[in-house]
Amino acid sequence: MIVLGIESSCDETAAAVVREDRSILANVVFSQIDEHRPYGGVVPEIAARSHLDHMDGIVQRAMEQAGIGFADLDGIAATGGPGLIGGVLVGMMTAKSIALVHGLPLVAVNHLEGHALTARLTDGLPFPYLLLLVSGGHCELLSVNGPGQYTRYGGTLDDAVGEAFDKTAKLLGLPYPGGPAVERAARRGNAARFAFPRPMRGRDDCDFSFSGLKTAVVRTIRSLPGATLSDTDVADAAASFQAAVADVLVDRARHAIARFRAEHGTNGALVVAGGVAANAALRESLVAMAGEADFTFVAPPPGLCTDNAAMIAWAGIERLRLGMTDDMSFAPRPRWPLDEPRPQAVS
Ligand code: KG4
Ligand code: ZN
Repeated sequence: MIVLGIESSCDETAAAVVREDRSILANVVFSQIDEHRPYGGVVPEIAARSHLDHMDGIVQRAMEQAGIGFADLDGIAATGGPGLIGGVLVGMMTAKSIALVHGLPLVAVNHLEGHALTARLTDGLPFPYLLLLVSGGHCELLSVNGPGQYTRYGGTLDDAVGEAFDKTAKLLGLPYPGGPAVERAARRGNAARFAFPRPMRGRDDCDFSFSGLKTAVVRTIRSLPGATLSDTDVADAAASFQAAVADVLVDRARHAIARFRAEHGTNGALVVAGGVAANAALRESLVAMAGEADFTFVAPPPGLCTDNAAMIAWAGIERLRLGMTDDMSFAPRPRWPLDEPRPQAVS
């Protein structure tokens, strides 16, 4: 089985071709980051326009790289949400057109399911496993039990982790996107200099909250003497912030591991996915905790942690194998929780 995947829910225009034996025949990602950088964040209208401008060429490039024609495909999968609706519309319309013209089955993939199933593409991981999904838009702990089968253990009550990284970067005068910039600055910093709060730590659930941490960073920075921040101040604040995030993620994931073990009666694997999972320091903390809990730690390579279409093609393969397809009436969904029933019946 060979599937073409399309991703356009945020600021990456992406197309990929993946085979059922887990080989990635093509994985093309066009990042719009340069178009959004002047605004310090993703501008939905610019994103939608850019997806429209680039989508056809990106799909063509992926097909060329894979060295196949549309007739060789067994299906087409595209992100159907959640995300910025303009972009999702562009991807979905492209997928529907190709499906219609070439008589291919269509799969509308929940973007989060794409992230959730990536560990099966990269590592062939069996169900069930525990997923910590940390990106710019999402921060969730889930038990992944099968395609379309998720138990949400908890999520953020306010900001997503990536958002907290991006906002902190802005406060510290670091470039956009903030995550990688904060990680770089943190390497030179003293994580013990500022005692930032660890919101939700120790609570008997699997929820997160990052707004208090962000406020603490703002207050601390304002209280420093001098009109501008020194390089040391920036590095120390970045390191102290990142250490607080690491402590929170470790604590929340530890709770989720206990719940997973109680529900499934077994140890398993902790998978991290999403853009923030590219952070080496956070990974290190999670590896140590998982090891203590006797859980295997799995993190897809950074290029498959951030938004891409290989994960969408793979989720399409998993669904197609089970006969789960969508029809032309599928309507893109700006909001689409992973544990919510699909909007239409499975054929
Ligand atoms: O998954 P992703 O590419 O897009 C979605 O949000 O779906 O994640 C992007 C987020 C951004 O907030 C970015 O700052 C963050 O992931 N990020 C990082 C790192 N690399 C990307 N955060 C912390 N450390 C990093 N190295
Ligand atoms: Zn994502």
